[in-house]
Amino acid sequence: MKPRNLLFSLFLFYTVTTAQTTIQPGTTLSAANPGQTWSSPNNIFNLGFSQVGVSSSYTLNINYNGGVPIWTAGNATTTVDSKGSFQFLSSGSLRLINGSDAVVWDSNTARLGVTTASLDDFGNLVLKNGTLTVWSSFDIPTDTIVPNQTLSTGNLTLRWNDTIEYWNKGLNSSVDANLTSPTLGLQPTGILTIFDVAFTSGSYIVAYSNDYAEGSSRLRFLRLEKNGNLRLYSSDIGTGNTTIVWSALADQCEIFYYCGNMGICSYNESSSTPNCGCPSENFEPVDVNDSRQGCKRKVEIESCAGTATMLVLDNAKFLTYQPETLSQVYSSGISACRMMCLSQSSCIASTSLSDGTGMCYLKNSVVIIGYQNPELPSTSFVKVCGPTQPNPPPGVQIAGKSKSSRLHVWVVLVVVLITLLGLIAVEGGLWWWCCRNSPKFGSLSAQYALLEYASGAPRLTDQDVDMQQVRRAVQVSFWCIQDQPSQRPPMGKVVQMLEGIFEIENPPAPKAITEGSIHGTSIMSSNLSALSTFAPSAPTPSSSSSNQTLGVSPLPSGRKYREGIFISAAFRPKLKPVIIHTICYNTRRR
Ligand SMILES: *[C@@H]1O[C@H](CO)[C@@H](O)[C@H](O)[C@H]1NC(C)=O
Ligand SMILES: *[C@@H]1O[C@H](CO)[C@@H](O)[C@H](O)[C@H]1NC(C)=O
Ligand SMILES: *[C@@H]1O[C@H](CO)[C@@H](O)[C@H](O)[C@H]1NC(C)=O
Ligand SMILES: *[C@@H]1O[C@H](CO)[C@@H](O)[C@H](O)[C@H]1NC(C)=O
Ligand SMILES: *[C@@H]1O[C@H](CO)[C@@H](O)[C@H](O)[C@H]1NC(C)=O
Ligand SMILES: *[C@@H]1O[C@H](CO)[C@@H](O)[C@H](O)[C@H]1NC(C)=O
Ligand SMILES: *[C@@H]1O[C@H](CO)[C@@H](O)[C@H](O)[C@H]1NC(C)=O
Ligand SMILES: *[C@@H]1O[C@H](CO)[C@@H](O)[C@H](O)[C@H]1NC(C)=O
Ligand SMILES: *[C@@H]1O[C@H](CO)[C@@H](O)[C@H](O)[C@H]1NC(C)=O
Ligand SMILES: *[C@@H]1O[C@H](CO)[C@@H](O)[C@H](O)[C@H]1NC(C)=O
Ligand SMILES: *[C@@H]1O[C@H](CO)[C@@H](O)[C@H](O)[C@H]1NC(C)=O
Repeated sequence: MKPRNLLFSLFLFYTVTTAQTTIQPGTTLSAANPGQTWSSPNNIFNLGFSQVGVSSSYTLNINYNGGVPIWTAGNATTTVDSKGSFQFLSSGSLRLINGSDAVVWDSNTARLGVTTASLDDFGNLVLKNGTLTVWSSFDIPTDTIVPNQTLSTGNLTLRWNDTIEYWNKGLNSSVDANLTSPTLGLQPTGILTIFDVAFTSGSYIVAYSNDYAEGSSRLRFLRLEKNGNLRLYSSDIGTGNTTIVWSALADQCEIFYYCGNMGICSYNESSSTPNCGCPSENFEPVDVNDSRQGCKRKVEIESCAGTATMLVLDNAKFLTYQPETLSQVYSSGISACRMMCLSQSSCIASTSLSDGTGMCYLKNSVVIIGYQNPELPSTSFVKVCGPTQPNPPPGVQIAGKSKSSRLHVWVVLVVVLITLLGLIAVEGGLWWWCCRNSPKFGSLSAQYALLEYASGAPRLTDQDVDMQQVRRAVQVSFWCIQDQPSQRPPMGKVVQMLEGIFEIENPPAPKAITEGSIHGTSIMSSNLSALSTFAPSAPTPSSSSSNQTLGVSPLPSGRKYREGIFISAAFRPKLKPVIIHTICYNTRRR
């Protein structure tokens, strides 16, 4: 190889590998070009701009292959326009700059001697002074934790507004250890763990994902969601699809403030996502366009001291994780619980438990978070002004002015429908009266007759019977209900058999009959005389009068049912072709 070529090859090798593993100072990513990214060596993670929904703003994310974001520069409000860019400055800082050259985010790593930036195979963006890590994205997590990323933790809890704790796992009194420096980690196999030297086994398992130890190319990540829940997700590489594999709170309604102050969280049959509503029509939503913003009274209780009443909420409780002070806890019945709150001016709501404890809780706090569920053994009361105005039952629309016009449309629709149905009924009656005996319509009346027969009602008729035809029909029927589908004749052959074109062999007896499961008798042949034994409940069994209906009733199993019907049918020669067809068709389809 010529030295020039060798040099060129080396240069190529160098640029390819460095482009993937380390990022040189002076490099820039532009929001206008979201395809431009920095990748991890294994290509599983990349760093680049993502559009926020359909808006014209962009965030800088580290994404898992397929587009699942695991880290964002700054917070959700840190966005740039399409002229924005992300720069690795020679000073050693990473900077997010918007179209007007304003710095919207900075890693603040200038003057730390940063020489390289890199995105590693675990999704960690690292700034190094030589081999020393001076900054990493894993150390400033956003809402997501991935395997190999740990979180120093005190108690593992979920809190609202930094004060109200609504979930606590890990370091309660049942964990019999004094922890020194606990860290939360997610194992790649999907096990969420707290590590600490104080644990005898070295770790404490918080949760297993429901797919733990499954799937080799699957990323699990832990995310604190905007709705307040903490969840583990699984995502197969390249799909962009995420699946929930564990939730800290299985019941979304147990999340504090999910429905806002004075909001009532509930579920309906048609949906597993919670509904947020107001306690009654004495309240109105804070934001008509966002039911999760909570509700407010239409009339404040301060302005109606004398006329306050208690609104009843069946199967409802209030979520309050603040400890109840003793003065708010009573041992009392449901009526007393209601009256006590009404009589105390500081009380705004109360909950009476029907779980056997006989307890009553009065609520004085301004924040009232309601949860209504048919399974909750409690009744709650909320103080309102003037008469209570319960919510309309679900499904009832408050249509306001358009109500009367809608009613009008409904009346017209109903009248038209009734008229149409009446016409159909009259026509049907006429048809029945004039055409029911016409052979042309035999097929239709046969189907009605089939129902009549199955009911076992006696029916005498005055037609003559061609015994030869009846025999053929019964023999064909026996072929049609063979247990082995391969033994059943095709439809074309059935027709030919019925018309007498084919000589019909005696079929093997159906299994149910040879087993004697119907009457314990063994009926080996399909000849007519034997068939009378099928008619235990026929009103007047008669082997000679073939006009007699042989209804089999009750008809306990599918197989016996079919047999009963076709035998009945066989004794009505006029109906035979249709019924035999139906039976053969159905058994073949089965
Ligand atoms: C987002 O970050 C900015 C500073 O970059 C800060 O002023 C703002 O309060 C943050 N917002 C939230 C919701 O944390
Ligand atoms: C850039 O950010 C600055 C400061 O946050 C803001 O005043 C300005 O409007 C932004 N420019 C664009 C084009 O978004
Ligand atoms: C970079 O690291 C070296 C040691 O590896 C240290 O001596 C030097 O002070 C560091 N530079 C800065 C600016 O901190
Ligand atoms: C990442 O995690 C794996 C398994 O938990 C471990 O073997 C590896 O050393 C970790 N790597 C880093 C860079 O932390
Ligand atoms: C959250 O807490 C702060 C004080 O810690 C308080 O001022 C604020 O009102 C609280 N927010 C809500 C929505 O209650
Ligand atoms: C951890 O939780 C326990 C029980 O919930 C509590 O008693 C303790 O004060 C908490 N510790 C910290 C540091 O928050
Ligand atoms: C403590 O945690 C264990 C499991 O983590 C849980 O079963 C138990 O109910 C918790 N106890 C309290 C008092 O929170
Ligand atoms: C934790 O520490 C307290 C006081 O520091 C001590 O009384 C207690 O026994 C310790 N518990 C365990 C499990 O070591
Ligand atoms: C993502 O999930 C949806 C629904 O579960 C499925 O229809 C789709 O095929 C999946 N996409 C990929 C790329 O696996
Ligand atoms: C049930 O809930 C869904 C969404 O949570 C909502 O769109 C729907 O209107 C609700 N149905 C009823 C009957 O309330
Ligand atoms: C609700 O949305 C409608 C249409 O999007 C808008 O006109 C109205 O101002 C919004 N109301 C509130 C309270 O935001």
